Amino acid sequence: MNKILPLVFIIASNLFVSGVTSKNITIENKCDYTVWPGISNSFNDFDTIGHALEKGDSRVILAPWSWSGKIWGRTLCSTNSTGKFSCATGDCGSGKIECAVLDKSPRDTTLAEFLMNKANVDLYRVNVVYGFNLPLLVVPQRSPNDKVCSRVGCDVVNLNQACPYELMVVDAEERPIACTNPCEVPDCMPSSYSESFKVPCPEATFDFSDDNYVACAGSTDYVITFCPSFTPVPTR
Ligand SMILES: *[C@@H]1O[C@H](CO)[C@@H](O)[C@H](O)[C@H]1NC(C)=O
Ligand SMILES: *[C@@H]1O[C@H](CO)[C@@H](O)[C@H](O)[C@H]1NC(C)=O
Repeated sequence: MNKILPLVFIIASNLFVSGVTSKNITIENKCDYTVWPGISNSFNDFDTIGHALEKGDSRVILAPWSWSGKIWGRTLCSTNSTGKFSCATGDCGSGKIECAVLDKSPRDTTLAEFLMNKANVDLYRVNVVYGFNLPLLVVPQRSPNDKVCSRVGCDVVNLNQACPYELMVVDAEERPIACTNPCEVPDCMPSSYSESFKVPCPEATFDFSDDNYVACAGSTDYVITFCPSFTPVPTR
């Protein structure tokens, strides 16, 4: 019994020294426009839970060691005459640039979802059950034990343009800004509409019957890229 306690201390101090008490999540914006990352915040200890990311920019956020939640991109955001911040896609309803605790997922929005450190395994996926607003890729970084885990994305085509007309979400100028997933309602029937999501995004979670998290053992950091296939714009 008295041997166990020092071992716990050694493990705990190793974790601390190697800096793995939190995880780095790098969010990079390769879209040709500003994106405002949204972060669901159940812990209240993020250094940011929503900010602007200019095209070509990236930012590292520190996620709590065993965080579970979602990260997504908000587009076409602005502050109106009464000082309320809102976004045409991905809006988190807080009225501010920072999101608050979410009671439901933003609609018509591509989501990166994480369940970190469940028995020392991270689970993650890209979820388009609630629709699509921009191509998104999650890339786990090399872990301390040199393991490379699978990347997952919905990033091959821009579904906003490829979206069937009936599911298209448009802005005031009728430009496509998002695509509604027909399987956002349970009891989704296979159809040409559901195929329009499933074919371009086979890795993504497409309807409520999917439970296709990718599992990654050991601690690793992540890079989330918005519009990964676009060439980064040189910084000014
Ligand atoms: C994680 O991010 C912090 C703050 O930006 C940085 O100092 C640190 O080097 C990063 N660690 C890794 C492993 O990238
Ligand atoms: C400002 O935005 C809020 C939240 O979207 C909305 O409820 C309100 O009506 C808007 N006010 C004006 C003057 O547009």
